[in-house]
Amino acid sequence: MLLDTTVLNQQRNFFDGHEDIWLFGYGSLIWKADFEYLERRPAYIAGWARRFWQGSHDHRGTPEAPGRVATLIRAQGALCHGMAYRITPDVLAPLDVREKNGYLREKVPLTFLGERGEAQKSKTQTEGLIYLATEDNPAFLGDAPLEDIAHQIAHAHGPSGSNKAYLLNLAQALRDLCIDDEHVFSLADRIHKR
Ligand code: SIN
Repeated sequence: MLLDTTVLNQQRNFFDGHEDIWLFGYGSLIWKADFEYLERRPAYIAGWARRFWQGSHDHRGTPEAPGRVATLIRAQGALCHGMAYRITPDVLAPLDVREKNGYLREKVPLTFLGERGEAQKSKTQTEGLIYLATEDNPAFLGDAPLEDIAHQIAHAHGPSGSNKAYLLNLAQALRDLCIDDEHVFSLADRIHKR
């Protein structure tokens, strides 16, 4: 089941020669920024929606009982809000290890937001990097009834902690950023009701 994308990602050098890179975080990279960054700015990427459709066998679950973590799916007209970090290229090596269970580096256009969530008038857009787990990676779990996803999250634990903490930390971070995300909040509500 485990696919280690570390080596693959080292070959995905979309920003070769750049002194800095804008990394867009939409999952744990929003609430667990345990890496060095030069600055961070709220931002969104267009045409993507956040979903708990990626299996976690290494952080929030185990190979026997995987958890579920966030990835992105294409969704026409949708905006996925998150946090963009300006990082130096050396920060990518440890991130490749952290995101090794199926996530690949991808280049995407991102739009920055102002302090109060409004689109910035100047320098609104740039090319950024995301870690994306697509449906063709072996750890991809895909869609399921929300109640089943919540059940799986409620019971999974891994070396990085409980799957529940991942979900609830993400929900809180989104609330703090005034980001509405029906999928995440519906799952968090189900977890709270248990
Ligand atoms: C991200 O946060 O941008 C990637 C998925 C994750 O690590 O949770």
